[in-house]
Amino acid sequence: MYQAVLFVILFSCSFVAFAEVDFEALRSTYSQAPEAWPKPELSAGVAHRELGLLPDVVHPSSNPFSQAKAALGRRLFFDPKLSRSGQIACASCHDRDLGWADGRTVSFGHDRLTGKRNAPSVENAAFWQTLFWDGRAISLEEQALMPIQDPLEMNMTLPELLEKLNADPSYQSVFKAVFGTKTISVQQVAKALATYQRTIVSRRSDFDYFLLARTQSHSRIQQAYNQKLSDQALWGLHLFRTKARCMNCHNGPLFSDNGFHNIGLTYYKREYEDLGRYLVTGKASDVGKFKTPSLRGVMNSKPWMHNGLLADMEGVMAVYNAGGFRFRGDPKDPLAPITSPLLQPLSLTQQEQQALVAFMDALTPYPSAGIVH
Ligand code: HEC
Ligand code: HEC
Repeated sequence: MYQAVLFVILFSCSFVAFAEVDFEALRSTYSQAPEAWPKPELSAGVAHRELGLLPDVVHPSSNPFSQAKAALGRRLFFDPKLSRSGQIACASCHDRDLGWADGRTVSFGHDRLTGKRNAPSVENAAFWQTLFWDGRAISLEEQALMPIQDPLEMNMTLPELLEKLNADPSYQSVFKAVFGTKTISVQQVAKALATYQRTIVSRRSDFDYFLLARTQSHSRIQQAYNQKLSDQALWGLHLFRTKARCMNCHNGPLFSDNGFHNIGLTYYKREYEDLGRYLVTGKASDVGKFKTPSLRGVMNSKPWMHNGLLADMEGVMAVYNAGGFRFRGDPKDPLAPITSPLLQPLSLTQQEQQALVAFMDALTPYPSAGIVH
């Protein structure tokens, strides 16, 4: 019965004010198992992947987990020795205190040279099917050696890196203990870095506690976990799945479909042009597409988007409310970027946009995952 009332209230009128939302009904609907939640608003052809708790990390059989390997990976991740200048570590741009990103619009590396892209967080890197904004690496093992060699990042060659590491007795003995070989190889460096990064998994967010509430046996704990999601954030969750259409791309436990979409930030034929996924596949339909980022921990890693364009979350919601950015150039140009048809003007009120921001907060545990000594 309350569900019917809720639907009338939430769906019949697009200018719902905060005071008019029946939060009690909304909370009891969402306190059920996700299978009983209202159906998400998805475009035809988009698979239904419900939001949920992150699964356990699976380490690949080609690079099984060991504590010693993860510890070695961590040492490498924080060691500026991996760069030519001896000053830049992975952690320079993936800093735990900045949500495992660098807080900058776009990163700078060797000689303070700037790249074109915003550093994504490495939190939850274990769950990606592809890495980088354009998905050009398909495993963390493959990815790890790329920044080391990137002239704008760490600017090393692999032979020089091996020479440096093999000349360091303390590294030599640890690599030997982990991999059992006399000399250090680049594959071993990559494997250790990948293993360490697979241990950087988000802490529980308020949203996760809300999901766990149902399964607690003590009613006091059940209640406390359930209340971690405020009324405003709960409303945000509902909008995220329905009217705001976010689930069309940000879905599943990671809040990403692991796919690529164009939300209109290609800067085609302009100074900051970035053709995104097209640079990997060469397909015109991929111009301006970027990997759907995860939203777990998102408030810890601003500024946002592949180019760090947006630094306030209200601004992000305003962009989505308008249906994304649209290309206004020659539509006959074969490489004209096409904004995803999954984005449409949404007619969200200010309060609805604020509720979505509150939901982004509820996805963000403080502080970020991982412990740095
Ligand atoms: C100079 C800054 C900088 C340094 C140093 C750096 N990174 Fe990055 N990292 C970035 C940027 C920028 C991107 C996004 C690049 C792109 O998408 O083209 C990125 C992307 C990544 C990703 C992909 C994340 C995702 O969601 O797809 C991982 C993983 C990663 N870096 C790990 C590392 C490791 C490991 C090291 C050290 C070996 C390292 N980074 C060094 C700036 C840096
Ligand atoms: C068409 C698929 C799609 C839909 C629908 C969508 N997003 Fe996104 N989202 C993306 C992609 C792709 C990016 C990265 C775009 C870029 O950098 O060019 C992104 C970026 C973001 C970011 C920045 C994250 C970061 O780490 O930089 C936030 C926050 C975000 N989306 C929230 C939302 C919310 C909230 C909604 C619903 C109102 C939504 N998105 C709807 C695909 C989508």
